[in-house]
Amino acid sequence: MRVDHEQGTGSGVDPSARLAVNDSANNIMIRVEDLGKQVVSPEGPLVILTAVDFRIGRGERVAVVGASGSGKSTLLGLLAGLDAPSSGRVWLAGVDLGALDEDGRALLRAERVGFVFQSFQLLPGLTALENVMLPLELAGQADARRQAFELLERVGLGARARHYPAQLSGGEQQRVAIARAFAGNPDVLFADEPTGNLDQKTGHRIVELLFALNREQGTTLVLVTHDTELAAYCDRVLELDDGRLSERPPARTAGG
Ligand SMILES: Nc1ncnc2c1ncn2[C@@H]1O[C@H](COP(=O)(O)OP(=O)(O)O)[C@@H](O)[C@H]1O
Ligand SMILES: [Mg+2]
Repeated sequence: MRVDHEQGTGSGVDPSARLAVNDSANNIMIRVEDLGKQVVSPEGPLVILTAVDFRIGRGERVAVVGASGSGKSTLLGLLAGLDAPSSGRVWLAGVDLGALDEDGRALLRAERVGFVFQSFQLLPGLTALENVMLPLELAGQADARRQAFELLERVGLGARARHYPAQLSGGEQQRVAIARAFAGNPDVLFADEPTGNLDQKTGHRIVELLFALNREQGTTLVLVTHDTELAAYCDRVLELDDGRLSERPPARTAGG
């Protein structure tokens, strides 16, 4: 079951509802306007993101790059509604995240969003299969087990379905995390350095997998990465420099 957020409030006068309809019609998956994030640190106020503006179209593959500490993970959390901005607005699939309460954002995430964390964040007490089943069960899917098993097979781990995270290598855990993120067929997948902790060969497999799932399901990909191979696969590269965002041409994979 999918709540039809794109109809807005029905009043026809709420400007954010109008924007939502336009975003949907124009195939805009993510719209960010004048986004800012500050936190209070022990050393006083810290500005993490300043005046960030961009749009991402449905099905686009976008890399977010920048030095360590430039605000990449913070931005990803704000786009996914895991964190709230200090200023500015984020629309996801035409929905103004700032207009939703915590439950509303959780529902939107469950319906629309997959998230691959840098540290995998699998539940240690659940098997690989159960980890992938969890979001499907939370979404009330009757055949969660079958769907989860198919996703594990898709990432090459059908034979490891009953293994617990501690019994899997880092690359295998990352593949389980990707299977889980794609469970429920999200419109947009956020991944924070999905190849950051993997050797080159395993990282390459993960990259292939993400882009195969993007092609098959039309999933919008927003990938934080230091990996030049991964960035070169993307349509667009957004670069953060000390909390300010600019767009740069995607790198070419081959010379010429
Ligand atoms: N909740 C927080 N409190 C204090 N500082 C934070 C908080 N979250 C992030 N930071 C700081 O903000 C900066 C950007 O963090 P982050 O978004 O994790 O960067 P990146 O992912 O690009 O390495 C870093 O200097 C980090 O230490
Ligand atoms: Mg980070």
